Amino acid sequence: MQAGQLDTLAREAARLIPLHLRKLLAAPQRFERFSRRAGPLLLDFSRQKLDDDALQALGDVLQQCGWQQRRDAMFRGDVLNASEQRPVLHTALRAAESRLASPAPADVNAEIAATLRRMGDLVDALERGDAGAFGIPDGITDVVNLGIGGSDLGPRLAVEALSNCHSGRFRCHFLPNVDGHEIAALMRRLDPRHTLVLLVSKSFTTQETLLNGAVLRQWIAQAYAGDEARAAAHFIAVSANVEAAAALGIPPERVLPMWDFVGGRYSVWSAVGLVLALAIGMPNFRAFLRGAALMDDHFRTADWRDNLPVLLALIGVWNRNGLGYAAHGVIPYLDGLAELPAFLQQLEMESLGKRVNAAGGDLHQATVPVVWGSVGTNAQHAFFQALHQGSDIVPLDLIGVVRPAHALKDNHDALLANLLAQGAAFALGKTPDEALAEATRGTEAERGALAAQRTFPGDRPSSTLLLDALTPESLGALIALYEHKVLVQALLWDINAFDQWGVELGKSLAKSILPALTTGQVPDAFDASTRGLIAAIRALE
Ligand code: F6P
Repeated sequence: MQAGQLDTLAREAARLIPLHLRKLLAAPQRFERFSRRAGPLLLDFSRQKLDDDALQALGDVLQQCGWQQRRDAMFRGDVLNASEQRPVLHTALRAAESRLASPAPADVNAEIAATLRRMGDLVDALERGDAGAFGIPDGITDVVNLGIGGSDLGPRLAVEALSNCHSGRFRCHFLPNVDGHEIAALMRRLDPRHTLVLLVSKSFTTQETLLNGAVLRQWIAQAYAGDEARAAAHFIAVSANVEAAAALGIPPERVLPMWDFVGGRYSVWSAVGLVLALAIGMPNFRAFLRGAALMDDHFRTADWRDNLPVLLALIGVWNRNGLGYAAHGVIPYLDGLAELPAFLQQLEMESLGKRVNAAGGDLHQATVPVVWGSVGTNAQHAFFQALHQGSDIVPLDLIGVVRPAHALKDNHDALLANLLAQGAAFALGKTPDEALAEATRGTEAERGALAAQRTFPGDRPSSTLLLDALTPESLGALIALYEHKVLVQALLWDINAFDQWGVELGKSLAKSILPALTTGQVPDAFDASTRGLIAAIRALE
């Protein structure tokens, strides 16, 4: 944003800061004016510290940035990822389910359709227990998804969230980390002859995934008395680096492509979602794509005032740059969405955690807040104390589901009541007088002290997102909603949201530290802490 635009936000913030959310919420038609629906999602932002004028000011900034042009350029396949010279076309992955014509290049659409067909054939064959044509042995009962970051978080979120749609044909496991405890425990539990391994890595250079792949390959080969070819039959690869996958002995019919025009954190809609398709079946996987396409269509056609991704982006910018809040909490009130905060951490922080623009120039404003969170109600009994009465304000997204997938009405009513209560408590708080009226025992000084501790400042903003029910469609729409929020914020903040250079330094240092750790030959050039820690580790080995 330009200095003048930031000044506008600062002026609006200065006007609104003295107005407590109690006051804003008491305005006529507050809910009607500050809530919107798109398909199965309802967004209530009436508990944000916004009024019509502030929202209009944010909308003006957005219009000045030309958000529609940027949006259309993405859907069309223009090179938005300038540092890697790549288009950004995750939306093409679900375009076949859209009601609108796809503006993506025809060859891209054709490749995606062909890959979806291949994926469907594979899933059908595995479901029938008849994947011999793909070289996969019969009797697969367990599927292990080997992948990290975007090759793990999206599929894991969706597999866990849609447990109600699982066909039950396969048990699905996720192994992102290189921590040997996990893989050792998994190998103790599973039967190698009945295990299928999905090696999912866009680059096919990721240390964690390749190392775990080698461990599982050896484990399976041992079960076949070292027969490497039979072990290789238990592997499917998903990668943009098809040659590297083939070099591991995985034949082309078991290598599903992904593409440079899909970023890892935007890839669940591609063959990276194979584990999801195996868990819920292809018809449900297509419904998941349909939900995302519904959000794409909404994003492409709705006016900014009614556009859910745009509104979420503006609210985020308002809280970060107008009101100055440095963190953002995501609290899903549903155990099935427990992985959502982790997924959004990667989506938002890897995309928007930048301090220079694509031309290398410094940005004029703060960018992504720290995104974190956990499931409600558990979080209420853990860190909500700080959110209610701590010295820092953390705006929240409270996410709930109206119709559960079970018949335990009392449980679900209690869950939703908590969700609604927390949003109200954060906004309204409890005044010192209200707290004093509750303090009935002790001296005046004691009552005053207790009342101070039992006062809630309130005025703490949150949005509530309600899904009609948790289905493949609504989950697809929810994820696409946040993807587009990121695009709009990237535009406002002048960021390339589709590269992630910030992860590279640690990776290359780990490569140089590994031999020092194993051999004890520690170069003097290492810093004092690294040298000291290597010595401490080796002393205990
Ligand atoms: O290190 C970050 C990252 O590159 C993410 O962007 C990506 O999702 C993850 O690693 C996994 O990468 P790959 O799919 O290439 O193994």
